[in-house]
Amino acid sequence: MDACLEPLLDTFPDLSGAIFLVSKTESSVSPQRPSAVILGAQWGDEGKGKIVDVLSEKFNIVARYAGGHNAGHTVIIDGQKFVLQLIPCGVLRPGCTGVIGNGVVLDPMAFLSEVQKLRAAGVHVDGNLFISNRAQVILPYHRMIELAAETAPGRQTIGTTRRGIGPAYEDKIHRNGLRVVDLLNTSLLRTHINNACHEKNTIAHALFGTEPLDPKQMYEEYARAAEQIAPFVTDTAYLLNDALSAGQNVMFEGAQGALLDIDHGTYPFVTSSSSTAGGAVTGTGVGPSRIGTVIGVTKAYVTRVGEGPFPTEIEGELAERLRARGMEYGAVTGRPRRCGWLDIPLLRYSNMINSTEWLVVTKMDVLDEFDEIPVCTAYEIDGKVTSVIPADVRGFKSIHPIYTKLKGWKCSTEGITEYDQLPRLAREYLEFLERESSAKICIISTGPDRGQTITKPGFDELFAIKD
Ligand code: GDP
Ligand code: IMO
Ligand code: MG
Repeated sequence: MDACLEPLLDTFPDLSGAIFLVSKTESSVSPQRPSAVILGAQWGDEGKGKIVDVLSEKFNIVARYAGGHNAGHTVIIDGQKFVLQLIPCGVLRPGCTGVIGNGVVLDPMAFLSEVQKLRAAGVHVDGNLFISNRAQVILPYHRMIELAAETAPGRQTIGTTRRGIGPAYEDKIHRNGLRVVDLLNTSLLRTHINNACHEKNTIAHALFGTEPLDPKQMYEEYARAAEQIAPFVTDTAYLLNDALSAGQNVMFEGAQGALLDIDHGTYPFVTSSSSTAGGAVTGTGVGPSRIGTVIGVTKAYVTRVGEGPFPTEIEGELAERLRARGMEYGAVTGRPRRCGWLDIPLLRYSNMINSTEWLVVTKMDVLDEFDEIPVCTAYEIDGKVTSVIPADVRGFKSIHPIYTKLKGWKCSTEGITEYDQLPRLAREYLEFLERESSAKICIISTGPDRGQTITKPGFDELFAIKD
């Protein structure tokens, strides 16, 4: 027992058991973590795919927990490019299993086409990729409703990916959705499609004048798809919890970003799922005390696709330079991404709502040629300086970002793999970011390829070596 605790026992002898437990617990806490959530700290496209791929070396399983094929996660391995939408990037690493959790909305056709592409590229998916029987299914009427709503006169355009994501989550919350387990039950599938088509065709025609979808044809196509999907389906909550109990490492791969979260994002310009760390819990069936750490991925600047607030957005020549150097075009839709400078209040907010412990900074190389790099450190709203994020779009519109201008390093960081090799001004930029954001930087990305990565000393040991 700790000698400094002994005097306490004279006064409170009943505490002896408690003190024993405390010291026992402290000595048995392992610094290694069994699991990690990796998520976007901004509005998506931060380079999560690349980072999940880099870290998958340490994990037995990588599980997606939210979103659907609205995501586009790019991984480049020795020049070979993969863009994964529904399937976790971990499957690209031999020995790593992929899981699509219950929080995901699964388009069966998109899934089968992605599986096909991966098989053709020689990636081992059969027996190595599992879909939760509780995941929700996206059906063609979800796309129909979304497309009609997004283009209807007088409706607020969100600039969605038009994949049917929002309407599929609407049906889930409305307790009207089709789950993967039900997709495999042909009689239930037929009844569900008949009823849903009747309802959605009526609504879409009445509101938007949309032509009706044919339930018979839909049933036949989806019943065929269900047969091909069946071998992948299992109860992934048991799979993940059993794996953790057996000492395996599990990574939770976020999609989208914290500021697109349905609750915490820039509502209504958000996606329809919980992309924040809490989503990893509800979206997989692994409880919060089994989440080892949270790693946020941020670009060294900011981008956004689709509509919605963006306080540090820039336009003109500087924006064009960022877009061109960063190749900022959507991996799914090809849309040009809006570009701007790093926004520390938003990054701190993201770190707070996710309890982010570690930060990955991607696309450092994109800033290589800038003379100076403005970073927003606070907002001025109605004449007052604040770092508090407004809840409404009107509040966002009144933000005047306050910038600190950092000196650019004006030389190439591309492909650098050692922190010490970075130019001094690049290190100062990262140290500034670390100080201001209150999270520890663990990885810096200096190019899109797996190998173009700096891992800070000590971080690798956070996870046990996988068997
Ligand atoms: P995700 O959705 O978060 O996985 O990100 P995306 O794949 O949609 O977009 C990130 C883009 O940046 C992809 O084209 C990546 O190949 C690329 N990328 C990732 N890290 C870096 C980096 O450090 N430097 C450069 N230049 N490109 C990067
Ligand atoms: P990854 O995982 C960037 C955006 C869309 C739109 C809003 C709602 O690659 O980072 P949705 O189709 O989800 O209903 O669209 O969310 N969005 C993304 N933006 N990266 C993504 O995913 C996104 N997924 C959705 O552009 O503004
Ligand atoms: Mg993306």
